[in-house]
Amino acid sequence: MNPFTLQNKTILITGASSGIGRSCSVECSKSGAHLILIARNEKELNKTVSLLEPGSKAETIIADITHYEELEDLIAEKVAVLGKVAGFIHCAGIEKTLPLKKHDSKLYNDIFAVNVISGFELAKILSLKKYKSETSSFVFISSVAGMGGEPGKTAYSASKGAVISGVRSIAVEFARSNIRVNSVSPAMVNTPILKKMFDDIGEEASREIIKKHPLGIGNPEDIANACIFLLSDAARWTTGSNLVVDGGYSVC
Ligand SMILES: NC(=O)c1ccc[n+]([C@@H]2O[C@H](COP(=O)([O-])OP(=O)(O)OC[C@H]3O[C@@H](n4cnc5c(N)ncnc54)[C@H](OP(=O)(O)O)[C@@H]3O)[C@@H](O)[C@H]2O)c1
Repeated sequence: MNPFTLQNKTILITGASSGIGRSCSVECSKSGAHLILIARNEKELNKTVSLLEPGSKAETIIADITHYEELEDLIAEKVAVLGKVAGFIHCAGIEKTLPLKKHDSKLYNDIFAVNVISGFELAKILSLKKYKSETSSFVFISSVAGMGGEPGKTAYSASKGAVISGVRSIAVEFARSNIRVNSVSPAMVNTPILKKMFDDIGEEASREIIKKHPLGIGNPEDIANACIFLLSDAARWTTGSNLVVDGGYSVC
């Protein structure tokens, strides 16, 4: 069998209403996965469902993932329909570019709640035997901002660094439960979060950032394909890694 296939695996994806999460949903459906898709915006989440491979099985959960204590019951309902979860992609994320003097505790808390804590809390739920298939693979979307410094990104880059280091610990802890855990670190990818950042920093700074990508700005499918590899049996000996998918950004 093709080791890269996700045929009949149930994959849960956060941030599925937009950008990278939407693309992961579409590409996973093309690979044969059943999907549990989570986001707050029902209209945009339904749009994602409409883009899936015809005949795909998909269930949606309209929820704010920072209310993670309410998610277990909702996930249990969807697992009863689609089967136990064999993969998880934590794509939901928020970004703010602001000088440190404009950072405050609310900003740190808001960013960490979505980018880090919700993902790790979901991993806790999905590691339970009642929801997990025999083997499973968890993928957390981090960022090159979690590996190198960028002005105005203290809270965001700290959250993405926390994802990379947290993933390593969870990978070691969950290996005995046959769960692999990895992160993916994109550079700039053409999605609404990027547009918002470019609006924040202005045209000239945006042009400078684009120039730093030898292969140009990425597309969401470039990240989705990396996630599919990590979810699939082709990556069965890969855990605790941070797969950098950045068009050459971090080697310049
Ligand atoms: N685009 C880039 O250049 C880039 C680069 C590096 C890393 N990343 C990372 O990639 C991930 C996806 O980014 P993107 O570009 O696809 O962003 P996006 O288009 O803005 O999508 C963000 C997603 O997160 C969801 N979300 C945010 N807060 C949520 C909450 N409280 N509860 C539930 N869902 C929530 C949003 O859904 P709702 O609003 O419907 O809830 C949306 O689906 C993020 O972690 C981002 O940091 C992006």
